[in-house]
Amino acid sequence: MNVTVRSRTRHFRTVAFDAERNAVLLIEQRLLPHEFKVIATRDFRETARAIREMIVRGAGAIGATAAYGLAQGARAFRGRDMKRFERHVEVVYQTLKAARPTAVDPVNAMNDARATMSAGETVEEQQALALAAAEEFARHDVEHCEAIGRHGAKLIRPGMKVLTHCNAGWLAFVDIGTATAPMYAAQALGRKFHVYCDETRPRSQGATLTAWELAQQKISHQIIADNAAGHLMQRGQIDLVIVGSDRTLGRTGEVANKIGTYTKAVLAKRHGIPFYVAIPLSTIDWTMKSGFDIPIEERHESEVLGAWGVTAKGKREYVRVANPGSGAFNAGFDVTPAELITGIITPAGIFKPRELWAKRRSLGYVL
Ligand code: MRU
Repeated sequence: MNVTVRSRTRHFRTVAFDAERNAVLLIEQRLLPHEFKVIATRDFRETARAIREMIVRGAGAIGATAAYGLAQGARAFRGRDMKRFERHVEVVYQTLKAARPTAVDPVNAMNDARATMSAGETVEEQQALALAAAEEFARHDVEHCEAIGRHGAKLIRPGMKVLTHCNAGWLAFVDIGTATAPMYAAQALGRKFHVYCDETRPRSQGATLTAWELAQQKISHQIIADNAAGHLMQRGQIDLVIVGSDRTLGRTGEVANKIGTYTKAVLAKRHGIPFYVAIPLSTIDWTMKSGFDIPIEERHESEVLGAWGVTAKGKREYVRVANPGSGAFNAGFDVTPAELITGIITPAGIFKPRELWAKRRSLGYVL
């Protein structure tokens, strides 16, 4: 999307690759909205660290980063011995896979890349195929988000008030985003609407990233505290909810997304408000049979016990908020059952969550 910093507007992708330097280029999301900076990771271990430490985050964005990281690792191998190369690629794959457990996009992206690589007969051929596969994943990610925008735009009518949770915007993908795609498409059609961004504690992706994105795109919005949505729903102030997902089960229609999504889905059901989830095909897990099996990432308690921000002098600082002697539980995601979801907005159209399995052929399921 276009980013305007100090009156200069340029188009950026969240994730890109510099083939000459064999480096993955990432927007440093921890600094936003206070500073806009692109960093380069020099090897696959640094790329995995960037995912783990959330320099880059969001399902599609870490999927693309993992695919580029796999190519980066493969391309760094010196020699012609296929057996040694395969062992090296396995280490790269496992390192990137372990960086964050809940989102399935990195695994899907790297599995596709490895399948593509297997057509190469030499190390050199496989290295080239790894990069081609990563570029292909990134291209599909953008195309899927564009298609989600086309299908989802019809849900947003003029004057509506839309709630979103966390950041499933372009910063969470290579470009455009999923939950935001219908918003950007509706805006392009000239519709005026208002977005409430859940703050999304503990890391505040709604208050920092989604609000920054919407401000950049000049979409009317306000940040609300995570516990304010029920009040707004009760007063008729929310017409529609659109969120993203880190893993959607193709067999059951259950949706893993940022912690707090389930609460919003329960509230939306209580108030008869449509609740939609927007996903590219790379977010579908066709194997898992129950939402209880989804690995839920638990992050460090410091995220809950305090907050990061910028001082009046522009210095980025962490402040302790909680009682000094208290600890915290910090699950990063929750799982929303299919019966609370009105529809899943996919690149192939909008489906009921339990229709995904029946539509699996058109949704990219391969045996
Ligand atoms: O922990 P994060 O920031 O990587 O979490 C991902 C998210 O931003 C959300 O869960 C989002 O709604 C889905 S990812 C497109």
